[in-house]
Amino acid sequence: MTHTPVPFPEGFLWGASTAAHQIEGNNTNSDWWVKEHSADTHIQEPSLDACDSYHRWREDMDTLARLGFTDYRFSIEWARIEPAEGQFSRAELAHYRRMVEGAIERGLRPMVTLHHFTVPQWFEARGGWTADGATDLFARYVAACAPVISEGVSHVCTINEPNMIAVMAGQAKRGDIGFPPAGLPTPDDETTQAVIAAHHAAVKEVRTINAGIQVGWTIANQAYQALPGAEDVTGAYRHPREDIFIEAARGDDWIGVQSYTRTKIGPEGPIPASDDVERTLTQWEYYPSAVGYALRHTAEVVGGDMPLIVTENGIATSDDSRRADYYAGALNEVASALEDGLNIQGYLAWSALDNYEWGSFKPTFGLIAVDLETFERTARPSAVWLGSLGRIRELPRTAG
Ligand code: BGC
Repeated sequence: MTHTPVPFPEGFLWGASTAAHQIEGNNTNSDWWVKEHSADTHIQEPSLDACDSYHRWREDMDTLARLGFTDYRFSIEWARIEPAEGQFSRAELAHYRRMVEGAIERGLRPMVTLHHFTVPQWFEARGGWTADGATDLFARYVAACAPVISEGVSHVCTINEPNMIAVMAGQAKRGDIGFPPAGLPTPDDETTQAVIAAHHAAVKEVRTINAGIQVGWTIANQAYQALPGAEDVTGAYRHPREDIFIEAARGDDWIGVQSYTRTKIGPEGPIPASDDVERTLTQWEYYPSAVGYALRHTAEVVGGDMPLIVTENGIATSDDSRRADYYAGALNEVASALEDGLNIQGYLAWSALDNYEWGSFKPTFGLIAVDLETFERTARPSAVWLGSLGRIRELPRTAG
């Protein structure tokens, strides 16, 4: 294997990602806020102030730009923009527009996610994604976001990880509320169809707002690996959890690939990682090669030469040297996929900040550490190194 660095392709996105509910704090109108304050869930603690990024976003963007990143993916919160059905907050739209302009002023290209797991309480109360009219309501919200995204935003993600939305809906029907601890339980088919319809409607709205915006969605990829003889079982297992959502991206401008770990599949289904493998704070197997599998699989399923963007990739750890090693291994995979001719147009790490990991602040994914009492931010060494690659615009190779 060559150790020669691979130059970033022209226009390559180099950044970090966040999601509103995980960092803003006091997202009190969202469905998650209700879940966080309900009894009998797997949620260990509520998000409360989170990282207070609703007020401190300038500092977050300053830090990312100073580190060398050129792109920042963040989400805007439907529950703030439309706190009551049909009532849109001009003040919140102006808030998010200031964020878009603030990013551009700092040399960060904003990638805006319109929906990252949370919905307004009124939307959930009327039945969520599968209720009559849900698609139209989402499309109307997207149209209302025009003042935020119409100028200066090159990439918009309609819905983050629709496959996880379908999985969480499946769990909720079985009485289990929260973010799945590992692997992907059975998704709810009806929700799958509903979010695909909502995505297609949102793509249309975004193109109406500005036909120059590159629009897509981002899929959670589990890097399913078939053990010998389990290829068919793996394909059947993967299709409703992943491929159906990748297929639905055909016709979009790009697709987001999000991976953290792998799942091995045997003839009887998924096989838990053995006890002797290194695990991260989310209990997932430490497996930096996941992103390579995810990129190659996505390219194969979506077909054509659709641009792929790694929109999330990272590790929850209390040992930042393992974080740096994870990213080095992952970037090696991205470099090798580029050498093989995959059309990869960006890499955004998860996550810019230590944040609210859907039920707990304990799994620390941040390139930037956040003190949850003082809200003080401290860039970790891994962030300094990763950011610096944005100045030399090269992906390093590691031995392997
Ligand atoms: C989600 C993030 C989450 C991350 C780590 C993805 O499923 O988009 O919101 O924090 O993975 O679990």
